[in-house]
Order: sequence, then C-alpha cells, then structure tokens
Amino acid sequence: MLLVANAEAWPGFATTVERLREGAPSLDAMVEGIGHVEREAKVRSVGYGGWPNMLGRMEFDAGVMNGTTREVGAVGAVPDTLPVSRLALEVMRRLPHVMLTGDGARRFATEIGMPLDETLHPDSRRVWWERLERELSREELDRFPDIPLAPLSRAITDPERVRDTTVFLSADPAAGIHAATSTSGWAWKYPGRLGDSPIPGAGFYADSRYGAAACTHTGEMTIRCGTARTIVLALKLGRSLHDAVRLAVDELCELRGGFLAGVVIHAVDAGGNHEVVNVRCEGEIRYWLWDEGMAEPELRPATTI
Ligand code: GLY
Repeated sequence: MLLVANAEAWPGFATTVERLREGAPSLDAMVEGIGHVEREAKVRSVGYGGWPNMLGRMEFDAGVMNGTTREVGAVGAVPDTLPVSRLALEVMRRLPHVMLTGDGARRFATEIGMPLDETLHPDSRRVWWERLERELSREELDRFPDIPLAPLSRAITDPERVRDTTVFLSADPAAGIHAATSTSGWAWKYPGRLGDSPIPGAGFYADSRYGAAACTHTGEMTIRCGTARTIVLALKLGRSLHDAVRLAVDELCELRGGFLAGVVIHAVDAGGNHEVVNVRCEGEIRYWLWDEGMAEPELRPATTI
C-alpha cells in the first residue's frame, strides 16, 4: 500500500494511514483524512481555512475516483458545506451522475443529512474586505456587490499566492489505485469559477491497471491540458511514470496565451512508484509519503522543473 498527498494534507494524513492499516476501503480512508483538512482553519486553501470568492462567499470543489471501476463523483462551487470530498463520494455512490454544482449540490447534501456549515472564517472575511477597500473606489464600495466583478479578477491577487487544494492518491495491488481532492479554490475567484479539483482528467484521474495523478495549484492550466488523464493514458501506452509525468509537464510548458502559472503534479503507478513534480511554483513544494514499509509518514521535497 502506497499513499501520497500534498503538504496541506497534514491534519488528516495520519488518519488515512491508520484507516488503511485497519483495512478500510481506500476512498473512505482518504475522504476521512481529507475531512480533517477541510475543518482545519490553518490550511488556507481547503475548507474552513480557505479564502472566499469576490463576493466574500466560500465555494468548495472536490472529486473522487475509484480506479478499479472508473466511477467518479465530483462537486463544484458548493456553498455552506465543509465535507465536500464526502459529498463527492456520495454523488458517486448514490446518483447516476458524475458531477453536481452550486445549489443542486447543496440540495443533495441536505437530502443525505449534511447540516449547513459556517464556512467563512472571520479572518478570511476581514482580509477579503480589506482587499476590496484597497482595490475599489468609495463609490464602488457603496454600490458593492452591484458592480462589474470582471475587472477585479485581474487586479486582485491571492494573499498567499496559493491556488491550492489537497490531493490524496492511494495505490495497492489488491485494493486498487484511487484519487481524492478537495479545495476552496483560488482566493477571490469570480463566483461560480471551478478549478481542476472537481474535473476528472484535469485535477485527478485513476485507473487501477496503470496508475493515478492529481494536481494542485493553478487549475486553469491542468484543465487546458487534461493533465491527470494525460499521465494515466501515457502509462497505458507503455511509458514509465517518469516519462508520463514529463509528457504532461511538457504540455503545460507549451501553453501560450491566457492565464499561465504554476502546477504541482502528484502521480503513482501500478508498480509502486511515485513522482511529485513542481512546475514553476514559487518556493519549496513538499508532499507526504507513506508505504507499508515505513513506521511513520515522511514529508519529502518535490522535484522542481
Ligand atoms: N487546483 C485548485 C484550483 O485551481 O482551484
């Protein structure tokens, strides 16, 4: 059994390891661990700790994929709900659909007994409003939110330059290869914006026969390239994990025009190998790794390209 997750997974990684050791189904183990990340105010890119959209509202995205059946569940722009990776898993298990968004996703959450959550941290609200006060004139602030928001989307930059998420990948010869993601998305995003975390093939993909991949940081990049699916398809076509990831990196680096920024790719294969690669993100990127030979999970540096 191999488990890989990005550094933001720290509040829940040990829980997932414990559940996997106990023999829990991999997606349940990962979603339980991600639930701790979603409730942790110190993780500033997922769940309660995340930043709101331009209107000061939290909207969450999440996705899960069972690599053995290739079933997928995803939710996007979900209001008032912290355990969105759990909600994505329930979409996969209970509905004939793959993806729900916005009010429909929240309606489904209520139907399956999830309470309305308080999702906007007071500190996030304060920083959001201070930012608006810096960007808007007095007259625009008086009219807010009845002003065009699009001009703000280029002016406002993320307070911590994170367009991040949490991603978990598990791989086991018997239990299969699976993926799970959750995020609050890009800070100050335009309302309704989806990142790559709920988009199968972009932010995550898993196929137990070959491997899985999941991405963090700029979802706009991996959606344009279909990054996670590219990696798993390259594995299917016989490339090594290293070469499959390099192919996806090349595609990201070939993009021209539009919004261009960094991505981190996490990938595993059916041979028990893993790769975590930082493509043009600032600072040191690290990730969590655990396999059955390790007494404790290890936080390791990603390869920088
Ligand atoms: N990768 C997370 C996002 O773009 O929202």
